[in-house]
Amino acid sequence: MQVRHPETRWDWNKIEVDAIDFPSGFQWGVATSSHQVEGNCNNNWSRWEASLNEDGTPRIHNGDRSAIACDHWNRYKEDIALIKALGVSVYRFSVEWSKIEPVAGNFDESAIQHYRDLCLALKDAGITPVVTLHHFTNPLWFEDMGAFENEANIRYFVRFSQRVFNSLKDHVAIWCTINEPTVYTSQGYFNGVWPPGKRDPQLAGEVMKNLLVAHTRVYEALKNGVDGKNYQVGIVKNVFPFDPYNRWNPLDWFVCRILDGVFNQGAIDYFQTGKFSFSMPGMDKVKYINKSGIGSLDFIGLNNYSHQRVKSQLNPKEFFRFEFYPHEEMTDMFYPIYPEAIYRSIKRVKDIDVPIIITENGIADKKDDRRNIYIERYLYSVSEAIKEGADIRGYYYWSLMDNFEWSEGYEMKFGLYEVDFTTQVRTLREGSKRYMDIVARFSQ
Ligand code: GAL
Repeated sequence: MQVRHPETRWDWNKIEVDAIDFPSGFQWGVATSSHQVEGNCNNNWSRWEASLNEDGTPRIHNGDRSAIACDHWNRYKEDIALIKALGVSVYRFSVEWSKIEPVAGNFDESAIQHYRDLCLALKDAGITPVVTLHHFTNPLWFEDMGAFENEANIRYFVRFSQRVFNSLKDHVAIWCTINEPTVYTSQGYFNGVWPPGKRDPQLAGEVMKNLLVAHTRVYEALKNGVDGKNYQVGIVKNVFPFDPYNRWNPLDWFVCRILDGVFNQGAIDYFQTGKFSFSMPGMDKVKYINKSGIGSLDFIGLNNYSHQRVKSQLNPKEFFRFEFYPHEEMTDMFYPIYPEAIYRSIKRVKDIDVPIIITENGIADKKDDRRNIYIERYLYSVSEAIKEGADIRGYYYWSLMDNFEWSEGYEMKFGLYEVDFTTQVRTLREGSKRYMDIVARFSQ
């Protein structure tokens, strides 16, 4: 079988990680999302956190609940000072739909005002806001009508997006429509470990298609206004290279190709050709054509953390599992430190031919003994891609501070700042200084 994307390996002992370069005007930033940091959400995730698995065990690691999270809703001013202290100039955050539109059609002006205040405070601090409209969470009323399972529901997301855009556009020039449509789809509809907890590949294909269409409709709605040209609207796409466990096993390659098609290539094809197809063993292929999908992006937001290593299995119900080699150095998540992954992912989204922003990249590292290496090596890889011609406009580290890591709860420590969740005290981690040094070196 043709090997489309062979595994790249560099010899890090020979690489001079300081030999990096970033163009002037490169945007250095940090990222968070509403549900993970704000606290007091009442959405599909809060309901999920309060429910139990069929066997009576909690949904979230340790039975954690997002609850008050980092109390960022109330502490945003203090947090802006922390962003500033890092030396970065961009803050990517998401607006919480369930707070802005708690009941269908009823918009809470005070919630909108909150985000306006946040944008103003960022501006005062010289930090550019980048807003994500959908980062995994839905208001309960939207979830209960089937969310993105039904194409007819897309209009509610468009209406919400327009409302937020009109209220914040004086302060916000860069807009991300939907965060990681494939992660939302695979976790919620294929693996069933996120809300709504379904395991239905056919429906997963439908949801994925509807998310892409939703993106395009929001893109058109925001850009079609008189001053649409002044705004950059893009989607945020997670790319995970899939590599075979045994490179002599054609079945491992075959599964990699299926996963790559569903997880990575499907969305890339949609933006290049307007065609979307999604197929997995045991389902009818979902096929869709939406010509307005072509180029419905001013930039592509790229999230990358690592790669996945795939071992095929002769079990029709679970035809693969992920397994890494013992010598791959792991993060605290279920994937290793593999800096070449970001370089390879950039090469993939580069085909869409729009500017790239790295909207997320970072490490869960409780001991803080790998964060510095992760940062310098991944940024080296980004710099290599730029040297080879990739048009990358910025890099936002995930995350500003420790937060609620979805089904992993509070166990995973992605923060440049450590958060003590009893006292809400934030403390800069040693390893984060590597990021600050690089940012300082390439900021005028
Ligand atoms: C991304 C997601 C973030 C954060 C991060 C770390 O998939 O957009 O919300 O959880 O992963 O795992």
